[in-house]
Amino acid sequence: MQTPWEYRYAHRMKGMGSSVIRELLKYAEQPDIISFAGGLPAPEVFPVKEFQDACNVVLAKNGAQALQYSTTEGHRPLREMIARHATRYMVPVTPENIMITSGSQQALDFMGRVFINRGDYIVVEAPTYLGALQAWNAYGAQYIPVPMDEDGMIVEELEAALRYGPKFIYVLPNFQNPTGATLSLARRKKVIELADKYGVPIVEDDPYGQLRYEGDHIPSLVQLDSEFRGYDDGCYSGNVIYLSTFSKILAPGLRLAWVIAPEQVIRKLVMTKQGADLHTSSFNQYVAYEVGKGGFLDEHVKIIRATYKERRDVMLEMMDEMFPPQVRWTHPKGGMFLWGILPEHMDSAEVLKVALQRKVAFVPGGSFHATGGGLNTMRINFSYSKPEIIREGITRLGTTLKELLHEGEKVPAR
Ligand SMILES: Cc1ncc(COP(=O)(O)O)c(C=O)c1O
Repeated sequence: MQTPWEYRYAHRMKGMGSSVIRELLKYAEQPDIISFAGGLPAPEVFPVKEFQDACNVVLAKNGAQALQYSTTEGHRPLREMIARHATRYMVPVTPENIMITSGSQQALDFMGRVFINRGDYIVVEAPTYLGALQAWNAYGAQYIPVPMDEDGMIVEELEAALRYGPKFIYVLPNFQNPTGATLSLARRKKVIELADKYGVPIVEDDPYGQLRYEGDHIPSLVQLDSEFRGYDDGCYSGNVIYLSTFSKILAPGLRLAWVIAPEQVIRKLVMTKQGADLHTSSFNQYVAYEVGKGGFLDEHVKIIRATYKERRDVMLEMMDEMFPPQVRWTHPKGGMFLWGILPEHMDSAEVLKVALQRKVAFVPGGSFHATGGGLNTMRINFSYSKPEIIREGITRLGTTLKELLHEGEKVPAR
């Protein structure tokens, strides 16, 4: 007799089954497919030698502590390093404003555990980061999507969303995943003002802020919020919870990220983390600190920027050459993704099926839309593949799109 597992799962597992797109994207992992689907950093920029040296130093100097259980908040020297960096470039904070998490993905999950009751509304950009939706669906969140353009969330639409009394606003201000869009300074200020007016906190998710390839740095929401409130006591206690990660500036396999928040929020997060995993890997925190101390990261990020800028430029150049005129795309000033917009009648999931036959993959954009829509959009990653692979992949994708647009009947109209 078959074990009736399907009757045993909690309600939250409903709707967590595999999707058609997820099934399709499994093909993208085959070695002969050029995949622009994943969100992977380039392996060529991982500082393997520095990690090797740092592991040796940590084991020689602090082997026992690095292999021992540790505090839930995170390794103090690492939090101090993050606090110094944040204070210099963003907002005055102390280590008490910081908790280390096992990736920003864990911090997103904790936002769900700490703030979301079943049925609560969350304001999200349309489209938004799929991983956040996956985390919060488990807590029964509902979403109010706010449309965006190349300057990020359209703030004129935000006020109406805030009248629903959402739990928080989720914003990806820099080189957003999936569109590559960056929220303009004027809009950032407006988001801060509106959030304050309606008493709604902001979750600022910023994994890509340091990966800017052109234009001037724009202050983060946490910094603007601090200025708006006139805080200068060095211990942030405003309206923003800021998330960032070592995944894109060091290595995602570390699973190391941090939250900056008012101390009282950090205390709730610490209690939550105790129940989740006690603490983030001590060894990884020691090693990341050893690698990162002494200004290594500032220099390393320059290498990442140069590598990704070249890849972005090659991709944009190739798209200009190979993509049919009916297709539009964003020109991100940083990050790892750009966003393609097909003619309204086209379904990018259908395009993916044909593209996979031509051995090239991307992610159809529908899944990044919290409440549906966007079926004619696509997310394309430019950080992972080397320039010559990008040239070949975009040639294949452009050929596929031209063919499908030409023979309209191959892509069924919706
Ligand atoms: C917007 C956004 N938030 C969070 C994450 C998760 O990052 P981490 O590797 O730190 O868990 C990602 C990963 O791609 C991301 O794009």
